[in-house]
Amino acid sequence: MTEAILLVGGKGTRLRPLTVNTPKPMVPAAGVPFLTHQLARAKAAGVEHIVLATSYLAEVFEPHFGDGSDLGLSLEYVTEEEPLGTGGAIRNVASRLHSGPDEPVLIFNGDILTGLDIRALVATHADSGADVSLHLTRVEDPRAFGLVPTDETGRVTAFLEKPQTPEEIVTDQINAGAYVFRRSVIDSIPTGRPVSVERETFPELLAAGAHLQGMVDSTYWLDLGTPQAFVRGSADLVLGRAPSPAVPGRCGDRLILPSARVAPDAKVTGGTVVGAHATVGEGARVTGSTLLAGATVEPGAVVTDSLIGAGARIGARSVLTGAVIGDGAHVGPDNELRDGIRIWCDATLPAGTVRFSSDQ
Ligand code: GDD
Ligand code: MG
Repeated sequence: MTEAILLVGGKGTRLRPLTVNTPKPMVPAAGVPFLTHQLARAKAAGVEHIVLATSYLAEVFEPHFGDGSDLGLSLEYVTEEEPLGTGGAIRNVASRLHSGPDEPVLIFNGDILTGLDIRALVATHADSGADVSLHLTRVEDPRAFGLVPTDETGRVTAFLEKPQTPEEIVTDQINAGAYVFRRSVIDSIPTGRPVSVERETFPELLAAGAHLQGMVDSTYWLDLGTPQAFVRGSADLVLGRAPSPAVPGRCGDRLILPSARVAPDAKVTGGTVVGAHATVGEGARVTGSTLLAGATVEPGAVVTDSLIGAGARIGARSVLTGAVIGDGAHVGPDNELRDGIRIWCDATLPAGTVRFSSDQ
């Protein structure tokens, strides 16, 4: 049996300031809680048993996913009293694993959207006889990630988490947040205190001569750590660029949930998701955006690459590009909001208050 640990705790779990009460993994991407995509992809790769390692707001996972039978999985939940870090979280769930000491256990960061061939990672692990195997991907700017240089056989030579100096940027290969661990390696992580798998476990394993094997897979890959990335990922799921068996309905230019209302002459494109009970008014144009449940885009508004929180309202003729609008916020008519702006949950922006273009 193949089993996996999914890491869904830690400090960054809340999608602040967008949805103060919803942990990121539960915010809908392409119409279903993001975690559903990871669970469904693991299931499709032959994983049967998954332990969710959680810390913040753990109580929201179990009521939704239950024992996992809806997804054809056996799910368990373990909640840390205090966040234990990535390595501590992995160690903390060891008692729930069924695998024997030499058997492989998959581990996934809970905020990654990827087309990774999970079976290929497990096969690489078996073929190389490694202690730990890591999915690696290449990015333009590796500074926000774990750098993982390898030799010509793919064997990992160093692990440099979040490099601080230019000298440390020795490669554009980064840790993509999916691993196979030999079970006994998990048991060797210290208990009862926070441990970072990136800053402590991997460097120590390397120093002790352990075999860490990298597998570069340049498939679709995105860390959904920021709201902007979340919107991008959701659109890519809808467009079919990011493969997931959990996208409801067929992939296409848009996903409009059955209870949503879109005016006949509104244009909804670019992988936009119109969530449950959300509405898009006449003549509005919505591109590459996510409208969460009950959001409203009023007539004539133009919304591009933006995240509109649950119950938020975008006034008539307002133009939004790369904006994040918190749950319940109200952007009055005739505003112009641009890249990087975040409107806090429940805030109100009066009509015509923000604009970049000149007076007409
Ligand atoms: N249960 C639990 N407890 N989970 C945790 C904890 C914790 O204390 N801390 C972090 N996690 C989970 C997060 O929920 C996330 O799913 C995953 O572990 C990684 O944590 P992030 O906080 O998102 O780390 P990051 O994005 O800065 O860096 C990590 O991911 C990069 C790829 O996106 C590292 O693994 C990097 O090496 C990697 O390149
Ligand atoms: Mg992350």
